[in-house]
Amino acid sequence: MITIKKQYSLLSHNTFGIDVNADTFVEYSSTDDLKQFLHDKEIIGNPYLHIGSGSNLLFLSDYKGTILHSRIQEIEVIENANDHVLVKVGAGVEWDNFVAHCVSQGWAGAENLSLIPGEIGASAVQNIGAYGVEAKDLITQVEAIEIISGKEHIFSNAECNYSYRQSIFKSELKNKFIITYVTYKLSKHPVYNLEYGNIKAELEKYPEISLTTIRQAIIAIRNSKLPDPKVEGNAGSFFMNPIIPRSQFQALQMQFPTIPHYDIDQDHVKVPAGWMIDQCGWKGKTLGHAGVHSKQALVIVNKGNATGNDIITLSREIQASVKNMFNIEIHPEVNFIS
Ligand code: EPU
Repeated sequence: MITIKKQYSLLSHNTFGIDVNADTFVEYSSTDDLKQFLHDKEIIGNPYLHIGSGSNLLFLSDYKGTILHSRIQEIEVIENANDHVLVKVGAGVEWDNFVAHCVSQGWAGAENLSLIPGEIGASAVQNIGAYGVEAKDLITQVEAIEIISGKEHIFSNAECNYSYRQSIFKSELKNKFIITYVTYKLSKHPVYNLEYGNIKAELEKYPEISLTTIRQAIIAIRNSKLPDPKVEGNAGSFFMNPIIPRSQFQALQMQFPTIPHYDIDQDHVKVPAGWMIDQCGWKGKTLGHAGVHSKQALVIVNKGNATGNDIITLSREIQASVKNMFNIEIHPEVNFIS
């Protein structure tokens, strides 16, 4: 089924809560519907944007083009082996509904990614990650339609070129394919991943360690730090954590001995942008209608009636402070749409 709406408010389709309209808003519930739409309407040559649940977008103005949104909803086990399952999931399934399903079935691997907002298609574009796990660790293949030809293509995990918050769908193939299904491999013999941050400490509050309690612990940690978009509009982490040369990190560590960090490889270190923004004194501060979350400085919030430009103005101030204090450039994880 396809639904097409004109002059449609995107308020319920972006977690920042920015009230803008799209000229045209299209939802489809199958690959055939999508192909048909691409064939008939010839969006090629006109502005268009495919969104998930709008949890990583910042609209700067009304969208003068077509917004596409997948409603492909199936979750299908395509291989059920002794030690693992392969699960093919429609791009329009809510990510956290999929995680909840995995946990309830006893399939391990996705539990640390509990409560991440967004949909399955975006998980494969964005390589979402949290608490030591990234979507790329679970994805075996990605099915997509090439926009220009309408042809189906299957990408192996290696072909997706994954790295931290990066994939081929955000770089070389940006806006060239629409993801329809993602296949994930989950384990039936869980190896829990509890090393990140305070997961172990949180789990001490629970009677046992299981997929269910890990999910509960992750949800509790996220809820304690991250604002609920229904209460205060936001898009989770606004900036990516910068990856810097180890030599630069060592010099910084002399100056800031408590600087948290994660080793990437022999030559590179990832530094939490939230820590640097916090050190710059931004936590809990507001500028116009935008603010820095009081419990996690990496998150910019809509304090009420913010426009996209209010959010950008604050983000630029933050970038300048971090550059000034640490000589590091931080870049948005959120995509700006105009
Ligand atoms: N920190 C501060 N002050 C702050 C924020 C962080 O000192 O205001 C320090 C923390 O104490 C910790 C370090 O910075 O030592 C890292 O903080 P945290 O563990 O909260 O994680 P993060 O690096 O800020 C990343 C992801 C989150 C993900 C968490 C947990 C990115 C851009 N963000 O945040 O992802 O939930 O790790 O794995 O990589 C998202 O992408 O929207 C998101 C929420």
